[in-house]
Amino acid sequence: MLKTTPPMGWNSWNTFGENINEALIRETADCMAASGLLEHGYEYLVIDDCWSLRERDENGRLVADPAKFPNGMKAVADYVHGKGLKFGMYSCAGNLTCAGYPGSFEHEFIDADTFASWGVDFLKYDYCYHSPIIPGYYLYRRMGLALENCGRDILFSACSWGADETHEWIKSTGASMWRSTGDIFDTWNSVKELALRQKELHPYCGAGCFNDMDMLIVGMYGKGNVGLAGCTDVQYRTHYSLWAFLGSPLMIGCDIRSMNEATREILMNKDMIAINQDPAYRQPFLLSGTWGGPELLMYGRHLANGKIAIGFFNLSENKATARVNLDEFGLPLSTGKTLLLKDVWTKETHSVKNGTFCCPLEPFECAVYLATLADL
Ligand code: GLA
Repeated sequence: MLKTTPPMGWNSWNTFGENINEALIRETADCMAASGLLEHGYEYLVIDDCWSLRERDENGRLVADPAKFPNGMKAVADYVHGKGLKFGMYSCAGNLTCAGYPGSFEHEFIDADTFASWGVDFLKYDYCYHSPIIPGYYLYRRMGLALENCGRDILFSACSWGADETHEWIKSTGASMWRSTGDIFDTWNSVKELALRQKELHPYCGAGCFNDMDMLIVGMYGKGNVGLAGCTDVQYRTHYSLWAFLGSPLMIGCDIRSMNEATREILMNKDMIAINQDPAYRQPFLLSGTWGGPELLMYGRHLANGKIAIGFFNLSENKATARVNLDEFGLPLSTGKTLLLKDVWTKETHSVKNGTFCCPLEPFECAVYLATLADL
């Protein structure tokens, strides 16, 4: 499937790990539809690892664990579809999944057929226990080909963590998104590390094959499967803004059935989502500005409607000030133009003075603007 804007949805792994079952998935589907998340674009509900039995059946097919999914996966898929959502599942290019359930190695075509028969719309495909002698691009091309020919439109979500130079070959496999980094954990250091890794990878991120920075930890507050120290709301907002700005798929990882108001506001910021889903999907560019240290990220992105998205992200525990000259956006003083800015989070508006943009930031804080061209 060719998807031209980053996929958005929810995935079970970050909070629930192996503690998944039909009731959880039904309640999450209800919540995605009723809370406004679906309306805001979060359409994929994805069951991650640990959904199957430890053995295939006598025909070599994967079997949903009847203790967790007593009515089988087709019934779950039907329920999810009934809510207007799309249904995602998980498998692995190795003999086993990362949690030790059967993987799809040498079963790619039969598994693609099984997923299609259940009504699956999205397959996350992991890289644990893969063959040490068959290169990753062969393994992912196999499943890519199997999905393209299974009779159903299934989005292929590659999860090889950026290993084995994934960025060089992943577009050849039919994947619509690819994990560009290792796993996220619910700590600020994890967010920072994953964000800084992206600098070299922007040229590989494009419409139809998005750099996946991993599932969101917004709203986890240290609870659940990848929950460690947790983060503050300021940190969650900066984490979300980075993922959205840089064009990552936005897969929620918290328990949305109990999300608080702060989490809702972060996940349903329409301007941030519009930047993420911009139809032109242009590459973000790093702004050099005045040197603000390695933990002050400054980005611009030209949007399809002529506006410019500008993001300043202070990853450090100290205050910082972002300073950028408008030349960097293609706007020298000689144009007689300046920028009118709308702050995506506070909704305040102001304009840039004297061709230089200056923005003080608190520790871990970000500022994201939608900038419109205006006459001086
Ligand atoms: C890997 C992936 C995670 C998750 C787990 C499941 O670690 O990177 O996103 O799918 O496996 O076991």
